[in-house]
Amino acid sequence: MQARNFGLMTGLLAVGFAGSLFAAVGASGPSPGAPGPLPLPVTLLEIMRANVEIPADGIWGIESAAKLSDREWLLAEEDAINIIASATLISMGGTGKKDREWVSNADWRAWTRDVQQTGLQIRAAVKAKDQKKLAAAADHLVDVCQSCHDKYRPENPSDGIARFPFYPARVMKK
Ligand code: HEC
Repeated sequence: MQARNFGLMTGLLAVGFAGSLFAAVGASGPSPGAPGPLPLPVTLLEIMRANVEIPADGIWGIESAAKLSDREWLLAEEDAINIIASATLISMGGTGKKDREWVSNADWRAWTRDVQQTGLQIRAAVKAKDQKKLAAAADHLVDVCQSCHDKYRPENPSDGIARFPFYPARVMKK
């Protein structure tokens, strides 16, 4: 799959012989089909814990600070981008038993779109260094997570593993 995508991409960029060679290699790949995003080989639950919760916590952790430092604004930007991108992942679904069923619902899609829009608002607030707008978007994010959880999140996580926070905070050396 990876080799095939690489071939197709290179084919688009290159001209003449190189292009057609890569295209030919691509055509002989094991799973024919249009080029597109890779599948998501993890569960939505795993995405929630590793990709959604961490940046959301980052934003909630600073939203009511009196004044943000340059470092905090930079981290908020990183969090905003992760929220924006993870919204796409949770709209796709992964390998969880119910993922496919969940993502096919209109309200599910609407909530994922709302997560992404809110992430964009957070990013805009960060760019403008506007703490009020940042806090308003952060509060709205809580409501979106909550709305979807109220309808779709089972009482116990579907892999049966209950602990919170799910991952320890990372301390980087530099
Ligand atoms: C479109 C629906 C939807 C949205 C939006 C959503 N979630 Fe989830 N979330 C779920 C579902 C469904 C589960 C349960 C998955 C399972 O158990 O298989 C879940 C599970 C989780 C878990 C796992 C909890 C545990 O028990 O380990 C965390 C953490 C989480 N979500 C955080 C968030 C945060 C933070 C947001 C908002 C930024 C959010 N979610 C937005 C649907 C959503």
